[in-house]
Amino acid sequence: MGPTPAFLVLLGAMWTCLLSAAPQAFPAPSISLIPSGSIIPGTNMIIRCWADLSGMRFLLYKVGVLDALRHVEPAGNKGEFPITNARQEDSGNYTCRYQTLDEPPKWSYHSNPVELVVKGIPSEIPTCQAKSSQHQPSP
Ligand SMILES: *[C@@H]1O[C@H](CO)[C@@H](O)[C@H](O)[C@H]1NC(C)=O
Repeated sequence: MGPTPAFLVLLGAMWTCLLSAAPQAFPAPSISLIPSGSIIPGTNMIIRCWADLSGMRFLLYKVGVLDALRHVEPAGNKGEFPITNARQEDSGNYTCRYQTLDEPPKWSYHSNPVELVVKGIPSEIPTCQAKSSQHQPSP
């Protein structure tokens, strides 16, 4: 014998109650890489994270790393994480989220991941430099 209608109504009421009691997270922020696409080692770039709300703390995460790598508290709605002199180890998928500055903080969902690819310089380049240094620049 299946559950009685009364039991189902009770279950529904309990579920509604649970949902309304659950803390609501803020909507996920957006994330982008500037410049976008893959970069060569040594490049400076920015990971930008932005939300519809101002006065938040933005946190940057790397997929596979539990704790936030960095955080910023911009005056506006845009958190920027500069990466100077990018290395191949910086390659990975990044997400961000934000939280309120009060205690306990209210959190947003994580952004979608963006993929940062730092590609190695081909091994031919040192040879090229050695060759070109033998040439005298034309006047
Ligand atoms: C980023 O995530 C995608 C999808 O999971 C994966 O194929 C890719 O290898 C990741 N990139 C890096 C650099 O880890």
